[in-house]
Amino acid sequence: MDIFNTALNKYLEHTCDVEPVLLQEIKRETFLSEVRPNMLSGHYQGRLLSLFSKMLCPKVILELGTFTGYATLCLAEGLPSDGIIHTVDIDEELEDKVRQYFDASPYGNQIISHIGDAAEIISDIPGNFDLVFIDADKKNNFSYFNAVIDRVPQGGIILIDNVLWKGKIFDENPDKRSKSFLELNEKIAADLRVEKLILPVRDGLFVLRKK
Ligand SMILES: C[S@@+](CC[C@H](N)C(=O)[O-])C[C@H]1O[C@@H](n2cnc3c(N)ncnc32)[C@H](O)[C@@H]1O
Repeated sequence: MDIFNTALNKYLEHTCDVEPVLLQEIKRETFLSEVRPNMLSGHYQGRLLSLFSKMLCPKVILELGTFTGYATLCLAEGLPSDGIIHTVDIDEELEDKVRQYFDASPYGNQIISHIGDAAEIISDIPGNFDLVFIDADKKNNFSYFNAVIDRVPQGGIILIDNVLWKGKIFDENPDKRSKSFLELNEKIAADLRVEKLILPVRDGLFVLRKK
């Protein structure tokens, strides 16, 4: 099930800000070279991430799941000049290409790439995170949420991607992965440490604000 139909998608992309040229290039190359290019956030969600970041003006951002760096660059748009974004991915094969993209942007020296398992790397990164984007291996979403929640200050934002799981969570007999999203969403919905709602953007984006 596609939550947003093609016509609506097109209209949303038409009425939001233009996708920056570097991001258009990253998207094009990702679709030419990667097996699962749709993992990339894309035009509309990318502009949303950029807008969130600009509204928050975060000093430190953490992204779990760099992939080809599309969302990293969207999030970096809201960094103040002394702000940084840590981005983590387990796939070392993408590292060189992604670094080239970062260095072609105005944010190259504000982006710190970490290669390895997010579960291990989060604790190696010191300090707090004003904005967190959880978009790595989906089965670990709740443990990532638990690993960062005490390191997000009051008013900080956590975003968790894909929480509607292509609408499969509404299936009569949801599969194992869909059940894990249903469990995650219930646990987060009941968590009093955060204000929250799911935006039905693309695959569903959980937006949490630390109280
Ligand atoms: C959905 S993609 C990220 C998309 C990117 N955030 C964007 O919006 O353009 C998920 C990424 O998480 C990475 N990943 C999977 N398991 C991981 C883990 N345990 N630790 C860190 N990264 C992981 C994958 O290699 C993949 O590149």
